[in-house]
Amino acid sequence: MPEPLVVFTPSGRRGRFAPGTTVLDAARQLGVDVDSVCGGRGICGRCQVEVSEGEHAKHGITSTAEHLTPVNDVERAYAVQRELAAGRRLGCTASITGDLVIDVPPESQVYRQVVRKDADAHPIEIDPVVRLHYVEVSQPDMADPSSDLGRLRAALEREWGIAGLACDAHVLAGLQRALRAGDWRVTVAVHDGATITGVWPGLHDVAYGIAFDIGSTTVAGHLCDLHTGEVLASAGEMNPQIRFGEDLMSRVSYVMMNPGAEQQLTKVVRGCLAKLTAELARDAAVDRLDVLEVTLVGNPIMHHLLLGIDPTELGGAPFALAVDEALRLRAADLGLPVHPGARAYVLPCIAGHVGADTAGVILSEGPHLGDEVNLIVDVGTNAEIVLGNRDRLLAASSPTGPAFEGAQISCGQRAAPGAIERVRIDRDTLEPRFSVIGCPAWSDEAGFAGVQVTGVCGSGIIEVVAELHLAGVITTDGTIDGSLAGRSPRIVPDGRTFSYVLHEGRPGITITQNDVRQIQLAKAALHAGCRLLLDRYGIERVNRIRLAGAFGNHIDPVHALVLGLVPDCDPSRVTSAGNAAGTGARIALLNRSARAEIEAVVRRVEKVETAIEPRFQEHFVNAMAIPHDADPYEQLAAVVALPPRRVAEAADGRPRRRRAPSDLPQRSPT
Ligand code: FES
Repeated sequence: MPEPLVVFTPSGRRGRFAPGTTVLDAARQLGVDVDSVCGGRGICGRCQVEVSEGEHAKHGITSTAEHLTPVNDVERAYAVQRELAAGRRLGCTASITGDLVIDVPPESQVYRQVVRKDADAHPIEIDPVVRLHYVEVSQPDMADPSSDLGRLRAALEREWGIAGLACDAHVLAGLQRALRAGDWRVTVAVHDGATITGVWPGLHDVAYGIAFDIGSTTVAGHLCDLHTGEVLASAGEMNPQIRFGEDLMSRVSYVMMNPGAEQQLTKVVRGCLAKLTAELARDAAVDRLDVLEVTLVGNPIMHHLLLGIDPTELGGAPFALAVDEALRLRAADLGLPVHPGARAYVLPCIAGHVGADTAGVILSEGPHLGDEVNLIVDVGTNAEIVLGNRDRLLAASSPTGPAFEGAQISCGQRAAPGAIERVRIDRDTLEPRFSVIGCPAWSDEAGFAGVQVTGVCGSGIIEVVAELHLAGVITTDGTIDGSLAGRSPRIVPDGRTFSYVLHEGRPGITITQNDVRQIQLAKAALHAGCRLLLDRYGIERVNRIRLAGAFGNHIDPVHALVLGLVPDCDPSRVTSAGNAAGTGARIALLNRSARAEIEAVVRRVEKVETAIEPRFQEHFVNAMAIPHDADPYEQLAAVVALPPRRVAEAADGRPRRRRAPSDLPQRSPT
């Protein structure tokens, strides 16, 4: 009689095993990925498997639950304490008696994958840098003079094959108590296969991590289960550094004028992270002391201030970073109220204007993994731009100024309830309809009655300018055409120019000529930056454009193209990448090899400094037109009826002055 054949799914690995072999042992012999914290003692429940019953013609066997030893006391005890779903067995105690097809469910796999919501995004493989191991340590013996730590190390080597571990001082301080409290059974946290960073009496099988994204306006955190990869809680706070300066440059100026002030900025941002940590733990109903790992991304100035580094050098050319490599620190050194052995990993920066947040975007989007040439734009006060594929990657930042965030726009505001975010303008009547954040109804629908409209946020400004252009109200050169005033009462004189009344309530919302100019300046800077990267890469068009960041997440791709925010592309290939920087931090939290990957990728990113590129001026001037002075946007025109090219005449009959990059707001170094 041949020994029973056991096939594991989904891996498809198979082998013959002597009756009495446990499923976990069989899996390990075949290299099948089955999790375990307790080392096969039947107490952690990580090794759960299911028998796939029936005839499996492909394998030539009949698989039945009867081909495992009957449910035993260990499983019954586990089921009483922690529940074991019907059909589930503990792989470490169930033994093989006959042919089997064993299904290893995702939650029992060590390297399970987390599928991301974005259909275009690649899944995250769970392989955290910190692992928990349950061990039984031999008791001290007069005949054996070895220390408690020595016997703990010996147990880890014997049971888990991990040797030569270093040990944190705080672990030593609590080791003897933990060993005795756990009756010589403890769970150990091992960081990066090298250091014991935590010890708990008995079985302790929960470990969490937090991925932080430190933006200049908002700080966001995501608390994740390091075993499942699941996001258990997300929270955001306004960056409290705002009181030292609304934008990054003014915060740098504050530090320049107040020597030593960087310590204040460091203190408040660390305080914000500590507050978020407590909030996330409370929301997820977990103990913050079970947070064992933290990752952080941020633009170069946020990065430096987090670390307590004076950002003054980033305030002017040549924008020298104090450090650009990835950093591995103790979370406690950043003032985070998490487990004392928790580590913090800060993603690498790329250049003085392109920070760890962009490294996060690259990790999340993976342009370096495929053949398609991707253009990824993270739109903020500065736009970070990444272009390329597996062969070559370029990165730059472009000084768009704060117009896309609603600043410098007469009716602009941050994205908040009451802000107009979507706009449509009737091509014949020039009448608008819009929607605001916090209300699902459009302004011409019954459900909109009584809604307070407070301003226009960034995505609303993009849409209203693009819609006004599509309706012929704004000409190719960005002028609100006063000759249409007779056609619509919404076009009103405003000094020597005209404005468009978007909403007549209180407050009234009006798009002025200056608002349009601010948007033109911002979008021309972004477009010119993209164009420079295309030039450097030696291509005219990209296969795919991804719009990242909170603002990029809300921009309608067609309107972004109509405005000429990004170079022409098939609109169906322009999509939102969500909060890619934060996702990158989450990937680095959940997958240790992603850290080595991004550290290697950033080393080969070619940095393009837009300010000193000779063609920036030319590209900027061309990009001031809507959508562009030299590019007919054929791919966009194939799906959207673009208005005929039209340039308004100046009131004095002279040609209008063409805008130059010097009209831009001062560069903010991120
Ligand atoms: S390995 Fe822990 S219960 Fe089976």
